[in-house]
Amino acid sequence: MNTLVTGRRLARELGEWRSAAPAYRALADRIRVLLMDGRLASGARLPAERELCTALALSRTTVAAAYSTLRDDGYLRSVRGSGSTLVLPGRDRGEHSLHPGMALDFSKATAPAYPGLAAAFTAAAREMPAYLAHDGFDLVGRPDLREAIAQSYRDRGLPTSADNIMVTIGAQHALNLVARTLYSPGERIMVEQPTYPHALDTFASVGARVVAVPVTQQGGWDLAEALRQIRRAAPSMAFLMPDFHNPTGMSMSVHEREYLAAAAQREGTVLVVDETTAQLDIDRGEMPPMAAFSPTVVTLGSLGKLAWGGLRIGWIRAGRDVLAQVLRNRPASDLGTPLFEQLVATELMRQMPLMTANRSRDLRRGRDTLVGLLSHSLPQWNITVPNGGLCLWVNTESTSTSALALAARTEGLGLVPGPRFGVDGAFERFLRLPFGYGDDQLAEGVGILARINSQVGTEPLRLPLQAVI
Ligand SMILES: Cc1ncc(COP(=O)(O)O)c(C=O)c1O
Repeated sequence: MNTLVTGRRLARELGEWRSAAPAYRALADRIRVLLMDGRLASGARLPAERELCTALALSRTTVAAAYSTLRDDGYLRSVRGSGSTLVLPGRDRGEHSLHPGMALDFSKATAPAYPGLAAAFTAAAREMPAYLAHDGFDLVGRPDLREAIAQSYRDRGLPTSADNIMVTIGAQHALNLVARTLYSPGERIMVEQPTYPHALDTFASVGARVVAVPVTQQGGWDLAEALRQIRRAAPSMAFLMPDFHNPTGMSMSVHEREYLAAAAQREGTVLVVDETTAQLDIDRGEMPPMAAFSPTVVTLGSLGKLAWGGLRIGWIRAGRDVLAQVLRNRPASDLGTPLFEQLVATELMRQMPLMTANRSRDLRRGRDTLVGLLSHSLPQWNITVPNGGLCLWVNTESTSTSALALAARTEGLGLVPGPRFGVDGAFERFLRLPFGYGDDQLAEGVGILARINSQVGTEPLRLPLQAVI
């Protein structure tokens, strides 16, 4: 059964969809963007034309023309009696990427593989035969890898034993396991606004309603709003990225950490702290981990940003009782973390200081290059320079980044429009730009951005920015 997108939901996702183009074209373009960046799924059924007319206060002719345009362009399939279904061209050919054929993909905040990775793979291959007598199913993680991860927390001043660690297939997998364990139907989950889009996907997949707490580059975490939401919505869990928040690059102050940890513990909300980007310090310096402020914090970690996204090794740090519950739930999703990758990860954990120093150097270069390029080519864009992480969260002030992403595709540049990071269509004027690329690629990307930014227009917006909930 295909998911039905209601007229109201589509209106919400569309946000500020109007542009200088005729209304039918602008509507079709925006629906196409929502499909391409994952806000609407391939296979989802659009509302009937009449329903969308009501939701958007548009004429039937406009909506019919928009649907017809999408059909002609191959993005919509209509069958009499069963409605109109979105189709992502390329899906049927088994392509995986949302940006097939992109020459330059700024939609992902990644960095190149750590130079020591190839040697770690070779070393693991040599060790591997010794493990072949084992049945190979490993739901908790190899003891020496868990011990090495525990040691990395102790090095940050946080007492941790191997029993507090479960190794997972990346942090995204860890988040899914934790969400499926801690969340029960009907409860709310608190997220930051903006937040990491695939966390929103995970929470949608368990059927959760989210409540949001604003994070801004000017004011940090809105503590008063967080407290209000924790009290009013009693969320079972809150998903936070205190260290180099994705996408803003912000870090929580010690006061913010203390305040949120205490409020959550008092009110029975479990803080799920994603530290996937926590080791990406450029020029900030050490901060105490969130788990230092409350024993109930569940922390997620990963080698994805530090070593390589393709390694697929992450972990959960939590109390033994929580990990025991996660362990009971885990076989429903997978039967363990691959051994070979764990051997590679064990070797890499020994090289932690080298890996962080290497990343820090590369990210500093990338950040400074990107800031320089943007200041020169797009001086009207408002940049706050982060002191860590992988990206800039740019306030374009007046560009529709959904329209920009669409235009960028035709130039071979993959971009994610701002609203993918928000709840309910917020952040239309924001753009996340990763700086983990080489100088030439950054220059090429900014060149394209500068060219298309003037084409998509900087006309004043007709609607106020969507309210932050
Ligand atoms: C904040 C955050 N959490 C989780 C992930 C996913 O991490 P992994 O590749 O370890 O699954 C990412 C990757 O982009 C991320 O930025």
